[in-house]
Amino acid sequence: MKPHVLVAYPLRPRFMDELEVRYTLHRLDRDGPGMLDTAGPLCTAMVVNGHVTVDRALLDRLPALRLAACSSAGFDLMDLAEMTRRGITLTNTSDALVDEVANMAVLLALAARRQLVRADAYVRSGAWGECGMFPLTPSTVGKRTGIVGLGNIGQAIARRCEALGHRIGYFGRSRKPVDYDFFPDLTALAGWADILIVATPGGPETEGLISAPVIEALGPEGTLVNVARGTVVDEDALVAALRDGRLGSAGLDVYLNEPRPDPAFAALPNAVLYPHHASGTEETRDRMAQLTLDNLAAFFAGLPLPTPVN
Ligand code: DGY
Repeated sequence: MKPHVLVAYPLRPRFMDELEVRYTLHRLDRDGPGMLDTAGPLCTAMVVNGHVTVDRALLDRLPALRLAACSSAGFDLMDLAEMTRRGITLTNTSDALVDEVANMAVLLALAARRQLVRADAYVRSGAWGECGMFPLTPSTVGKRTGIVGLGNIGQAIARRCEALGHRIGYFGRSRKPVDYDFFPDLTALAGWADILIVATPGGPETEGLISAPVIEALGPEGTLVNVARGTVVDEDALVAALRDGRLGSAGLDVYLNEPRPDPAFAALPNAVLYPHHASGTEETRDRMAQLTLDNLAAFFAGLPLPTPVN
C-alpha cells in the first residue's frame, strides 16, 4: 500500500506526477480543510511551502504527521518550535537555491548601482538621442560589500563579491572561520560598506534589523540589496531614505506586502525591483522540487533526511 501524503502546497506538475506514482495524495491545497477530517489522521508526511501557515490548529488535525517536506527555503509561517515539540521534522530546500539567489543578489547590486533599469528605459525611449549621454553612475569597482547573515547564501554572495574585487565584511550572530571582516555591530558594518546585502532568514528574530539608523549609516553613496525577507527591513525608513537621497540605491527581491508591495517603490527611480523571484528559474525550481521528493523518499525508507532543519 502506498503511504499517505498530505499536499498543502503543490510541486511543479512533473513532480506532482512523481508524487502520485509513489504516494496516496490528499490535496489540502485543492480540496480545502474539510478533507482533513478523514485524511488528516492518515498522513505521516506533508508536502508544504513557505507560503503555508503551519500552526497548532493545522497540526492538531495531523496527529500522525512526522515529516513536513518544505519545497522552499523559507518557512517563516511555520511554528517550528511546536513542530519540534510534536516530533515533526521539517526539511527545506535552501541547499538547492544557494547559487541562484547569490547570483541574483549580485545582479541586483550591480543593476542598482549602475542604474540598469533606468538606462534601459533611456535607450528604449529615444532619450539618449534627444538628451545625450546618460548621467554618470556610482561605480561597482573596488568597493566594500557588507553581508548581513553569513549562512550558505551569504557565503555564496561573498565569494562572488570577492571575485569582483570587493572587500567583504559581515554581520551575524557569531564570528565565522572566514577571512572576512566581522562586525558585531550592524550599524558599524553599514557605515563601512558601500553595498549592504541582506541574506538572513526571516521571522521574528530578524524583524526590522535593517532599521532607519542602519540605512542612514549606509548613506547617499550606499546600495542596499535584500534577497532575504521584507520583514528584515524597515520599509518606511527605506522608502523615505531612497526618496530623499539619504540612501543611494536599492535592489530588492522581497517586500513586506507581497505580491502587492508598497506602491511608493514604483515611484523610486533609484530602486531596482524584482518580484520575489531570486530562485525562480526552471533549473533551480526543479532542483528544489527534487530535493523535496528526496526528503520524502528518505523518510519513508527510514534513511537519514538530506536536508533537515530541526
Ligand atoms: C524560498 O525558497 O524561500 C524563496 O524565498 C522563494 O520563495
